[in-house]
Amino acid sequence: MATAPNHIYPADHLKLDRESKEKQLNQHSKVIWMTGLSGAGKTTLSYALESALHKMGYFVQTLDGDNVRTGINKNLGFSDGDRYENIRRIAEVSKLFVNCGIITIASFISPTNSIREMAKIIIGPDDFIEIFVNAPLEVCESRDTKGLYKKARKGELREFTGIDAPYDIPAHPALEIRTDLLSIEESTKKMIDFLLPLISRN
Ligand code: ADX
Repeated sequence: MATAPNHIYPADHLKLDRESKEKQLNQHSKVIWMTGLSGAGKTTLSYALESALHKMGYFVQTLDGDNVRTGINKNLGFSDGDRYENIRRIAEVSKLFVNCGIITIASFISPTNSIREMAKIIIGPDDFIEIFVNAPLEVCESRDTKGLYKKARKGELREFTGIDAPYDIPAHPALEIRTDLLSIEESTKKMIDFLLPLISRN
């Protein structure tokens, strides 16, 4: 029986470091963490930001409910424990992405201070940029893009963030975007102006 040749280990000298990958992509990678209520505009702004950065030549990937809760996290619901596990996995995936030079937008309610603190610790504070996508609950509820607030008010949906589950207002976000006051274009410009010095190599 063939035995594994042990002279191929260790392989550390073969590993490319993050800096080489960032350099190849001509950017500094960061995780842009978008938090806010359902209906606040996180997904809309994430894709507007991704597309604006892409047009400027940056390499960006968005993680959101559409590609995470339907895939890697499809076994998770909305209990406290499941939300922690949801965010823990997303933070770990974001860390893998950022370590290969990719600017990563993570767009999730991430409702509590402690859940966001966990994400920040996993990712590392220098790479974690928190953007609070903020619109008052009444505005989010009046938008009710998915009809979920109505269901939550009727008691058909339990533990809905902002109704019968908590949302802690971020104490010190790097940036706050009031989507009830700014247009998509204004919001995107505000994010780009803030982020460019952090991701640009020039
Ligand atoms: S988080 O709390 O774990 O960060 P996440 O951002 O992944 O939540 O998912 C939120 C989305 O799931 C909402 O925009 C909404 O469409 C849907 N959803 C379904 N049930 C709930 C619920 N009980 N609370 C909040 N959002 C819910």
